[in-house]
Order: sequence, then structure tokens, then C-alpha cells
Amino acid sequence: MIKRNKIKNLLVDSEYGKKVTVMGWVKTFRNNRFVALSDGSCMQNIQIVLDYENLPDALLKRITTGCSISVTGLLVQSIGKGQNVEINAENIEILGDCDAEKFPLQPKKHSLEFLRENAHLRFRTNTFNAVFKIRHVLGFAVHDFFNKRGFVYMHTPIVTASDAEGAGEMFKVTTLDFDNTPRTDTGEVNFKEDFFGRAANLTVSGQLEAELGAMALGEVYTFGPTFRAENSNTTRHLAEFWMIEPEVAFADLEDNMNLAEDLLKYVIQYAITQCGDEIDFLKNRLLEEEKNKPQAERSELDLLQKLQFCLDNNFERLTYTEAIDILKASKPNQKKQFKYIIDGWGADLQSEHERFLVEKHFKKPVILTDYPKEIKSFYMRQNEDGKTVRAMDILFPGIGEIIGGSQREERLDILINRMNEMNIPQDELYWYLDLRKFGTAPHAGFGLGFERLVLFVTGMTNIRDVIPFPRFPKNAEF
Ligand code: 4AD
Ligand code: MG
Repeated sequence: MIKRNKIKNLLVDSEYGKKVTVMGWVKTFRNNRFVALSDGSCMQNIQIVLDYENLPDALLKRITTGCSISVTGLLVQSIGKGQNVEINAENIEILGDCDAEKFPLQPKKHSLEFLRENAHLRFRTNTFNAVFKIRHVLGFAVHDFFNKRGFVYMHTPIVTASDAEGAGEMFKVTTLDFDNTPRTDTGEVNFKEDFFGRAANLTVSGQLEAELGAMALGEVYTFGPTFRAENSNTTRHLAEFWMIEPEVAFADLEDNMNLAEDLLKYVIQYAITQCGDEIDFLKNRLLEEEKNKPQAERSELDLLQKLQFCLDNNFERLTYTEAIDILKASKPNQKKQFKYIIDGWGADLQSEHERFLVEKHFKKPVILTDYPKEIKSFYMRQNEDGKTVRAMDILFPGIGEIIGGSQREERLDILINRMNEMNIPQDELYWYLDLRKFGTAPHAGFGLGFERLVLFVTGMTNIRDVIPFPRFPKNAEF
């Protein structure tokens, strides 16, 4: 058994003179004497002081940035500035050498693009240490929030036959031989001979199955990977992302909005409380970056203030129709500065419009409701006006849409009509329709994009930097 002390604990330990063993990776090595060692347990390194005069040269040469070592020595109060404690090494062992010439991570600042190309090593940097700690804590907070409220965590399938969003952006799952696909009499690929005996794909959302759970368990949520084969090369889209989808029986759109706002505030507060060091580090990193920008482009709030602001204010709630009126009359629309000009009711909102509403007009998170049915999915509950549905999107500063959801259509006849209008085959979704036949009830739910949440809380600007191994068009490295 390997016994070691974690650096996180030692840094706040005042039992000076005790013997400790630390293991980690060398960040820097100065004057043949001082090693800054990290073991990933916290943002800070611990300083190791070597008695170099009594150490063989061959050993000292092997201590380079990136190598992994085990050090046993005495924990002592540090007289140097920058740390309270350090370790006077008595014994040092190289666990793994690091070829300093070839090691991509030199002790200097690297660009995020460079680190993305070295995603297998970027965990070793302070920035990614902080990002992935926060990601972990946010995931934990999500479970904590729902658990406290009595929701059941439900695992919905990753391989499915249905297209929950009806957008046709699915990855196929098949074991058919591409060079010799079985064909039907009419020449189409015969999926009856495929592994599942039918065409299957990776899920775009667990919602439809979560609805089945909610209509028996009352309150459920999913938290799993979802896949979209949309060709979006943006800083906010991934082909593989994680989504949190609660579904609640006996709930309407207002309940849904309240739940979503509570969830966001809870998990952001949780991160602030649990990840003070990490958020502080990322805040300073952003401030440093902003120094290179012209005054006008700098943000008014720093990262922590931005998070706090979100907690202290009620999200602005308005309808799509009201938002369109604001956008139509807005300066960037009048002056044709938007790429997509808003000239009438019915247009889908682009992220430039969403961000205008949030960042310029209301200057706080916004919940838009009651969108035109033409731009939303088949399952959303229709309003009396026959034109709009009980949809809600939550828009966040710097992000745009972070949550999409709705009250669901629980009336069988109206749902069937809408599916017919949208050419959605009923036989494939018979089980979804059954819910409306056997004890239907009003219900609602939403999907929170986990990476967009992590983007917001870390202040990072590219979604590829908040998931360990991003998947996007033409990239599935690592
Ligand atoms: O708005 P969306 O497509 O909604 C649904 O999938 C519903 N079935 C959810 C529900 O009601 N249960 O996606 C929900 C959220 C978006 O608001 C966004 O945050 C995130 O998922 N999202 C993506 N995140 C990263 N990359 C992508 N390609 C994303 N597409 C959606
Ligand atoms: Mg959406």
C-alpha cells in the first residue's frame, strides 16, 4: 500500500517537525534547491527544499518540470514568502522521468488553443485544474439539489430509436457492414438485419423517457450524455454534451420556471461556497486577459461579481412576443447591426438577439416564454391562441440559451394533430402517446446544458475548454 499526505491538507497543517510523504508532479525547480510540487489536490503547490549538496548530480538532473517524484521529509514553517509551510526533504525518489525537451507544458503561460491540442496533458495546468474541479462540484450540486427535493435520478437510454427533438441531428448506431448492406425488396437498407432489428441512434435527449418516469414517480431527472450531429462549429456547441433534464408531474410552465431558476441559483451558490480558490484564480486570469482589451470591451463585473449578481436578482420573465417588440425597436436592429434583422413575428432568435436582451437591455438573466409553435418541438403544450406554445428558454449573459424546456402537451387529440402536421410517425412513439391515454396529467420539464453552465461559472469562453475531451465536427481525438 502506498501511503502519502495530500498537499491540500499539509498546507493548512501546523504540526511542524512531523515526518510526511508527498507525491506529485514537479511544476518548477529553482537553484537546484526549491521544487514546487503539485499533486492535484488543490490549486497551490507545496515547496520542497532539497539539501542539494548531499544529493548526487545524476538525481538532481532528473528533477525537471513534469516529472513525478516522491518526497519524504519534515514539515516545517517556511521563512520564505508565499507559503506558510514547506518540506525539508530527507529522501527523494523519482517515480517517473519527464523528457524536458519534449514535454509540451513549459513553466510559462500557454494559449488555450495550444492546450486544447494537448488535451491529454492540460489537466496539469492551474486553469484546467480549476475548471474541472468546478465541473465536478457543479455535477455534485445538481444531484444534491434534486435529492433534497425528493426527485428520482433516472437513467434514460443512450441508444434509442426515437428522435426526441424531431430535428434529425442523430448519429446512427449500427453493426451493419457498410460495404455490403442488406437491402429490402424496394432497395432501402434493411435495418431488420441490424443489431437492434431496427434503425437506432445515439440519444439527443432523455426527455421522452423521463416523461414516462415522471408520470409514475412524480418527479424525476436525468443527467447523462447526449449527442447531436449538427454541424455547428461554435464556441457554444458540442457534438457530445451532458444534459440535466428534470420532468415533473402536476406542474405547469410557472412551476417549471421556478424550478429552473432555483436550480441555477442553488448550483451557482454551491460552486461559490465550495470552489472559492478556483473561482478566485479564474477571476484573476480573466482580469489579466482583459487588460489587453480596449476599455469599452472590458466587462463591468468580475467573475465573482457576475455570479453573485445572478443570485441576487430575479430572472426577467417575458413572452417571445414582448421580446420581439423590444428587439424590433432596438438600436442594433434599427441600425442594421444585427446579422439577422428582426422584421416580424415568428423568426427564430439568434444568439446575437438573445445576448442583446440579456447583456444590453435587461442586464440580467431572462426567461422567454410562449414561442411560436413553428419554431419549437412537437411535444410542447399549445396555447389558446393556436399560434404559440408553452415553451421557455433561459438566457444567460455571455452564453445565450442555457436552458430549454416547456409544459408538455398532455391532451391526446391535440398532440396527435401536431405530430401529423409535423410528419412525426405515431407508430414509433406509441408509448409516448399511451401516456396520454392512460391517466394523462399536466406536466413540465426542461433541459440544462451542463457545459454551458460550467462555461458560465468558470468564465471560460469556449465550450471545448470545459469538457475533458470535446467532440465536434472533424474531431474525436483522445
Ligand atoms: O433546447 P434543447 O434542444 O432542449 C431539449 O433537448 C429538451 N428535450 C429539453 C427538455 O425539455 N427536457 O437543449 C437543452 C439545452 C440547451 O438549452 C443548451 O443549454 C444545451 O441543452 N444544448 C447544447 N449544449 C452544448 N452543445 C450543443 N450542441 C447543445 N444543444 C443544446
Ligand atoms: Mg433549445
